[in-house]
Amino acid sequence: MNTRGCLGISYMKPSCSILTLGRSSSIFGCPLLKHGRCIKYNLPKSQLQLYCWMETNCCPDKNALGFRSAIDSHRRVFCGSGSNSGRARVSSANGVKKTNFFTSVIANVASNTRNHSDSVESRVNENSFEKLYIQGSFNVKPLVIKKIEEGQDLLGKDEEKNKEYKVQVNEDLKNANIDQLSKSEVSESTLGGDVSEVEKEAWKLLRGAVVNYCGNPVGTIASTDHPADNQPLNYDQVFIRDFVPSALAFLLNGEGEIVKNFLLHTLQLQSWEKTVDCYSPGQGLMPASFKVRTLPLDGRDGEFEDVLDPDFGESAIGRVAPVDSGLWWIILLRAYGKITGDYTLQERVDVQTGIKLILNLCLTDGFDMFPTLLVTDGSCMIDRRMGIHGHPLEIQALFYSALRCSREMLTVNESTKNLVVAINNRLSALSFHMREYYWVDMKKINEIYRYKTEEYSAEATNKFNIYPDQIPSWLADWIPDTGGYLIGNLQPSHMDFRFFTLGNLWSVISSLSTSEQSEGIMNLVEEKWDDLVAQMPLKICYPALEHEEWRIITGGDPKNTPWSYHNGGSWPTLLWQFTLACIKMGRTELARKAVKLAEKRLLVDDWPEYYDTKHASFVGKQARLKQTWTVAGYLTSTILLDNPELASLLFWEEDYEVLENCVCGLKNEPRKCSHFAARSRTAV
Ligand code: GLC
Repeated sequence: MNTRGCLGISYMKPSCSILTLGRSSSIFGCPLLKHGRCIKYNLPKSQLQLYCWMETNCCPDKNALGFRSAIDSHRRVFCGSGSNSGRARVSSANGVKKTNFFTSVIANVASNTRNHSDSVESRVNENSFEKLYIQGSFNVKPLVIKKIEEGQDLLGKDEEKNKEYKVQVNEDLKNANIDQLSKSEVSESTLGGDVSEVEKEAWKLLRGAVVNYCGNPVGTIASTDHPADNQPLNYDQVFIRDFVPSALAFLLNGEGEIVKNFLLHTLQLQSWEKTVDCYSPGQGLMPASFKVRTLPLDGRDGEFEDVLDPDFGESAIGRVAPVDSGLWWIILLRAYGKITGDYTLQERVDVQTGIKLILNLCLTDGFDMFPTLLVTDGSCMIDRRMGIHGHPLEIQALFYSALRCSREMLTVNESTKNLVVAINNRLSALSFHMREYYWVDMKKINEIYRYKTEEYSAEATNKFNIYPDQIPSWLADWIPDTGGYLIGNLQPSHMDFRFFTLGNLWSVISSLSTSEQSEGIMNLVEEKWDDLVAQMPLKICYPALEHEEWRIITGGDPKNTPWSYHNGGSWPTLLWQFTLACIKMGRTELARKAVKLAEKRLLVDDWPEYYDTKHASFVGKQARLKQTWTVAGYLTSTILLDNPELASLLFWEEDYEVLENCVCGLKNEPRKCSHFAARSRTAV
């Protein structure tokens, strides 16, 4: 868990300078907003802040930092709990009640400041993707180009749609009844069927974790357990990754507004100029988390304002970059469209720009030799040192899904066609690399055991110079005869053989693994139930690092002692991803078994963040209680099990086009092409 330092080392430059630089002008140049004025606000240098300002809505002097709201002294606008605003609902055919998705007005006000993001757009289009395209141009598959050409008329339609949308937003603004939006009600699941006591309690907790910004729900805090003797650290913040299961529970329950608000507000935070010790990380970076602060309004007695205060890792322990945040954002954006049927959100120009900025960061050329994403330690759910720097599986699986989501969502036009080509090329190379080099089963381990080393040639079998001695002693006894898994990481002369649950489950869900491999992963979980599930689903990784290995790899981290926290602890939040994978693979009975196990203890133990020991016998040493993603993970699992048809909106089948799309340019020498070699091996 990351903590904020007392003195921040990062700050947001006042927007006037941003505007002058043209770097973030899209955020603050608010073409949609009329009759406004702007208040120049001096920010403490230690904070990045976004103000909610509802009195007026334009910034003619270009000094505004965002939006500011005048709030009464009862702080009506900030209500950290029970803040589900009352909305009309209609039932849909499948029994899931649908919310009216166009009621979020304030969020629209805030988010549309980005709508005409010319400067950002042109930066993205001019440079990186052009470069990507030119570099890989000889590899471009005509099929892709053809598709783009066919889709060219989309451009015109898209512009029309955006115009319509903007008119709609302005209408919304005029008609807004802000008071009504800030009213909240606590209700349970609106899905049909019996709701158990455990589920009732879970819904209560989930709604109690909702955070409001200017009267609108924008996310859920990580944990609502803040005992007086315990520092909240940053558990009182909305984490991007933690919000995903909350978002799904709400979406599946017909409540889309909170998710839409979350997507739009985090989108705004994305483009903020951020600085750590005078260095600015990439523009598309999404924060790990954000907090809504309610502060007294300068010079206005008794009035308060809501402030969004993001953490891009500049306050986090170890200053870890949240690489997964942007990937989760894209995945959630697609889920929002799929579940609500409201595709206007992903079609918006500002949202399209957000997708491109994230992809820009991920697809930029570096020194990498592999199609996998190169990241530092702690850049995902495991957000502290655990020896997962390099090319960790979790990031690769999320990257693959985010690429697939983006390809579905990107509006294809002249300015995006190169990006679409780059996405297709990367998808193809990435899936090949992962399936070929990360997969281990009995047969593969035996091959590695007999590897020759020091092979200098393009045709080497042992491409990464893996020394057979690296095969850990636990593995030979552990690997079942049937089944296998994707290893945690692959680097030169280094295979991390640990089993990482999230990465493996997400590979199944996204079809990063082949269908055979996915079967193998599910078989392995079943076979190794006592190790990976035991008394509480599911172990974050297996096995734990112990003794000298623990000391060297974690740096002697007292929170990550063997079989605790990230080092072999059990995380109930992983239940929803397990359920999704099980439903996809037709193994629903496994998911039911896991949910039953979890149900026995979660309520009694007060929804812990994680469990400790080899068999998950104890509530984690430093685990928070009332951990929101534990609650939401459980709820999402139960909803999916009751409505398995909805699960198919959240997973992907094999993409045969990607499989065929080899980008290596060795069409005339197929035997040299690894894809070709792999295909013919499969055929034998
Ligand atoms: C811990 C987890 C991280 C999570 C955060 C908030 O730091 O490692 O994945 O996002 O807590 O719950």
